[in-house]
Amino acid sequence: MAPVSKLKIAVLVSGGGTNLQSLIDHCRDPNSPVEITLVLCNVPGAFALERAKKADIPTVVVNHKDFDGREPFESAMHAELERSGAELVCLAGFMRLLTDGFVDKWHDRLINIHPSLLPAFRGLHVQQKAINYGARFSGCTVHFVRPAMDDGPIIVQAVVPIYGNDDEGSLAARILAEEHKIYPLAVRLIAEGRCRVVGERVVVENARAPEGALINPSPE
Ligand code: GAR
Repeated sequence: MAPVSKLKIAVLVSGGGTNLQSLIDHCRDPNSPVEITLVLCNVPGAFALERAKKADIPTVVVNHKDFDGREPFESAMHAELERSGAELVCLAGFMRLLTDGFVDKWHDRLINIHPSLLPAFRGLHVQQKAINYGARFSGCTVHFVRPAMDDGPIIVQAVVPIYGNDDEGSLAARILAEEHKIYPLAVRLIAEGRCRVVGERVVVENARAPEGALINPSPE
């Protein structure tokens, strides 16, 4: 039987790379329709690079500090991504803003994970922002990237409750545990050809949705 071709993804990281790890672990399953062809990092020495090396995944460091502005930095990244044969680029804790030009080149082939229920709470320290606002729920979102920050068609979201005694760290940990589930799920749905962007909404074929509502605080 001819080998089934897998979706080639590149993962862009800046830090510890726990989301990268969730993708690596997903790709270890022989039934996964996804393979990671490159891990690109803008921070030399970031722990995410160790994770990739341990999994025998090619890595490259493109340090933004080596470039005079965003365009030349992104051109270097683009060249590495093309060379890797990546069909989908996954931002996983990649902490640089991208220009419209780069985002447009990868239109509907560039996705991001963000630790809030978009469109609420964009930018940094979003867990603290959700607590400060008194939100009763937060969560995480995987979305196609558009030029505006933390914007674009939503693929998957997960919801977590916010408790009265939460601080930024406890909420971030609760959300991160869900990030590790939904990023592999989103990538798999794309690899299976089940996501279509229709008028800036993502239609997921054969998607099962949970039933009922969550209420916090619970009426009981
Ligand atoms: C994750 O929580 C991710 O959602 C967030 O950075 C963290 C990276 O953790 N990304 C953003 O805030 C992007 N707007 P990781 O390096 O352990 O995957």
